[in-house]
Amino acid sequence: MMVCEYKPGLEGIPAAQSSISYVDGQKGILEYRGIRIEELAAKSTFIETAYLLIWGELPTKEELAAFEEEVRLHRRIKYRIRDMMKCFPESGHPMDALQASAAALGLFYSLRDLHNPAYIRDSVVRLIATIPTMVAAFQLMRKGNDPVKPRDDLDYSANFLYMLNEKEPDALAAKIFDICLILHVEHTMNASTFSARVTASTLTDPYAVVASAVGTLGGPLHGGANEEVIQMLEEIGSVENVRPYVEERLQNKQKLMGFGHRVYKVKDPRAIILQDLAEQLFDKFGGDKYYDIAQEMERVVEEKLGHKGIYPNVDFYSGLVYRKMGIPTDLFTPIFAIARVAGWLAHWKEQLAENRIFRPTQVYNGKHEAPYIPLEQR
Ligand code: SDX
Repeated sequence: MMVCEYKPGLEGIPAAQSSISYVDGQKGILEYRGIRIEELAAKSTFIETAYLLIWGELPTKEELAAFEEEVRLHRRIKYRIRDMMKCFPESGHPMDALQASAAALGLFYSLRDLHNPAYIRDSVVRLIATIPTMVAAFQLMRKGNDPVKPRDDLDYSANFLYMLNEKEPDALAAKIFDICLILHVEHTMNASTFSARVTASTLTDPYAVVASAVGTLGGPLHGGANEEVIQMLEEIGSVENVRPYVEERLQNKQKLMGFGHRVYKVKDPRAIILQDLAEQLFDKFGGDKYYDIAQEMERVVEEKLGHKGIYPNVDFYSGLVYRKMGIPTDLFTPIFAIARVAGWLAHWKEQLAENRIFRPTQVYNGKHEAPYIPLEQR
């Protein structure tokens, strides 16, 4: 067997062959099935983009209408899931609530018919349809309210915002939210997608696949950074404090949340679009002082770390968009998950098509032939 050099974090090591998405980290290019995200953000919808990623081609009018209808009809969650969620502590993080709820779905659909295309399709539809309902339900229940039922007359994003706020969203806000989902739906072999593919490779059910990926996404080095960015901007508090804050953190070898990326060495193309979306919201609904702080921070970080290729990533401006929509900070990462579930499912399907269980090796650096020391002698 060929022995490879150990690379911490598997940097630069291909873990799969995939035709789902493509990143050029030097040029700042991201494509889904070959289509640039700028184009999809301007012209597509989240549901259409999810279809593209999972089935490999843009849908025809009829295919899109059928997919939208199936998702619409599966938005409701079972009362047992809702009742289970009612028992979650309201102080618990919504990502943990989501992980537990996604895993619990597997209890209701325990049949594993992985070779049956109808099973794949049903699972895809069910997960894309119910994840937003579960996020919104936990948000209302932790406030002591009953969850509201999905509204079939609203599209995917408008319905989520309606379930979250119990009122119909502004049309621009709903459109911008849908674009945010497009921007977060897929990103090659990131940590949560890798997690999804590893879990998928054991031939378990898709609910376990999604639950494991949700757990991975939540960490502050990955999707959890969007929540921490807002906390960081709040801590900085004013434009004048940006430079001393950045300098102090760098001196203490602490990371600046929302900056840096394993693959991008330029500004993340998603951050560029998200910044523009934030500005559209500020134009309509009024500015946000944290945006001024964020822009100053981008300038200072570029000055200090630009030579290392450290620029804003997807998590830097997304929080400002969601904040302007009145969404609580700890829902930012669950919203990332609402989008990414479609990417994970595309990888689940691709993994199953040519599956081999993930079983890498390790470089053992421990002892050999160690003696067993009796308890009383330790
Ligand atoms: C996402 O992989 C994906 O595609 C993920 C994602 C997706 O869509 O799925 O794009 C979503 O997870 C975005 C990233 C969100 N995380 C953060 O914003 C947390 C802050 N960023 C980092 O901790 C870091 O940049 C990572 C985790 C994103 C990447 O980590 P790497 O590739 O392991 O890089 P590293 O930590 O080894 O850093 C390399 C160098 C170091 O300097 P040197 O020791 O070489 O001198 O860059 C420096 C680091 O100190 N560095 C930073 C920094 N990020 C890297 N210094 C200060 N602040 C930072 N944020």
